[in-house]
Amino acid sequence: MLPMLARFALTDRVALVTGAARGLGFAIAEGLAGAGALVVLNGRDQASLDEAARRIAATGAGAVETERFDVADSAERSRGFAAIAERHGRLDVLVNTVGQRNRKPLLDLAEDEIRTLIETDLTAGIMLSREAVRLMLPRRSGRLIAVTSIAGAVARPADSVYTAAKAGLTGMVRALAAEYGKHGITSNAIAPGFFATEPNSALLADPAIRSYFEGRTPIGRWGRPDEIAGAAVFLASDAASYVNGHVLTVDGGATILM
Ligand SMILES: NC(=O)c1ccc[n+]([C@@H]2O[C@H](COP(=O)([O-])OP(=O)(O)OC[C@H]3O[C@@H](n4cnc5c(N)ncnc54)[C@H](OP(=O)(O)O)[C@@H]3O)[C@@H](O)[C@H]2O)c1
Repeated sequence: MLPMLARFALTDRVALVTGAARGLGFAIAEGLAGAGALVVLNGRDQASLDEAARRIAATGAGAVETERFDVADSAERSRGFAAIAERHGRLDVLVNTVGQRNRKPLLDLAEDEIRTLIETDLTAGIMLSREAVRLMLPRRSGRLIAVTSIAGAVARPADSVYTAAKAGLTGMVRALAAEYGKHGITSNAIAPGFFATEPNSALLADPAIRSYFEGRTPIGRWGRPDEIAGAAVFLASDAASYVNGHVLTVDGGATILM
């Protein structure tokens, strides 16, 4: 058996992190690289991906490269996975971080806005997992990790489609755990609580809303993006070899508060 520290190491693993140009995806990519993985950063904008790769490389951790594609675009997605397969012949870890939000009451959402959210937040997650499993099956080894949300376990008004998509993703995570566990592939989710990232900037800028969320969280503050990384490193590592179908909530305790 490996010593405990070695069980958390990701040396020689190839990991794809979608939505890695900024926010939680960037923090997860930086964490996986810090644990020794070769990390492929995904996003839609090459310049921001290059900048994210430069910042991670500057820490001297692991190795980073970029693969630009829109996760919701089927042709781009297939090309992205084909390029990774060609370069590395394998994929050990998929962290699907992309998730868009459109905070509006249901009646204010146009039908195409609803479809776009479901396409990006749910359908893309299923398709990415399918592409990843194809690369993982021959080696009988892999880690599927989806970034979901505490939305679904708890709910707020003006957020129904995002909440539905994240709950769907949680269902997929569990079903894939049941389907591929015997093939050496685990499937787990990370459910973040309130993190100080760009999509929450309007909430953070409003002192009343900001302190409402602080009061909702037993730890008493918003999460820093780097505080999500340890959960991803753990789930991607040998230390989590028997963790399958789990939702690891990282929310400062927000969902346990009455
Ligand atoms: N922040 C929170 O408090 C919180 C709470 C619960 C759950 N989450 C979940 O955590 C995840 C990350 O949230 P975040 O706040 O870090 O978001 P973020 O700061 O907006 O980052 C999103 C990232 O995804 C990329 N992206 C967006 N659409 C894409 C697409 N179609 N294809 C490829 N890349 C795409 C963006 O880059 P480009 O725009 O350059 O493509 C960016 O790098 C989401 O799934 C979110 O639902 C966040």
